[in-house]
Amino acid sequence: MIAYLNGEYLPPEQACVSPLDRGFLFGDGVYEVIPSYDGKLFLLNEHLDRLGRSLAAIRLPDPMPDGGWAEMLERLLQQNPGADRSVYLQVTRGAAPRDHAFPGQATATVFAMVSPIAPQGPAVAGAGVSAITAPDQRWGRCDIKSVALLANVLARQQAADHAAVEAILLRDGLLTEGAASNVFVVTNGVVRTTPLGPAILPGITRAFLLGALRAEGRDCREEPVPEVELRAADEIWLTSSTKEVLPVTRLDGQPVGDGRPGPVWREALDRYRQERYRLMHGSAGRDVTHD
Ligand code: PDD
Repeated sequence: MIAYLNGEYLPPEQACVSPLDRGFLFGDGVYEVIPSYDGKLFLLNEHLDRLGRSLAAIRLPDPMPDGGWAEMLERLLQQNPGADRSVYLQVTRGAAPRDHAFPGQATATVFAMVSPIAPQGPAVAGAGVSAITAPDQRWGRCDIKSVALLANVLARQQAADHAAVEAILLRDGLLTEGAASNVFVVTNGVVRTTPLGPAILPGITRAFLLGALRAEGRDCREEPVPEVELRAADEIWLTSSTKEVLPVTRLDGQPVGDGRPGPVWREALDRYRQERYRLMHGSAGRDVTHD
């Protein structure tokens, strides 16, 4: 694997970051995960817009303005051939003597690497996945894609301890999102997901899926989902750049709906893949790479 660090393309073992890096000491940085299918980055501009918003929110000047990101990411993908992959990229405020306030002078650290995207196998369509619920113990700016993910890490580990793939987070009796995904619920054919705001990450997959479903007339609402309605939902889905649209069929050990992936999920995944194919290939068709 070839990674990118501060202008160089090199094996990750040879990439060195100072222990004084503020990403290491304070979690002072932001990141993105961008999927790539057939060698093409999917929704790159949307991801770069969100990166720009995260950088602005933490008052870190963009270290690669003027199209530098796209060029670097394309070059990195070319050096890591493979099928479906995701690019992880992070920007931190760089190395400086340890002090919480911003350093007078520091050069941002830019790191990127490529990982395979595990295809959603037939087992998922047949059985779905398990999730648990957990209290949302994160900070008040979950809309910033910060590398400081300790609360997410603890929630995901709690899920892993229960052999579940995700922790679905609850705050003040309402659904927020997953530890590393957005959450959708379906009740009587109506699709609902938490509205945008500081309590959730504005997921790129979330927005794309909402657009795809609304375009075909599905009733989709961005409104708060109380915990009782989450637990009574006919279907629950997780979305993210690496998960696509994943059906949750067990929540805290109880079946969701009839305990099998639901018909609206099937339609949603099909729509999502069709729209992705259309966007990436400029024509209608079916993206069969994950079936
Ligand atoms: N996580 N909410 C949280 C807390 C997330 O970490 C993610 C993605 C999402 C979904 O966003 P998107 O559709 O833009 O991927 C929602 C990435 C994949 C990660 O941390 O690996």
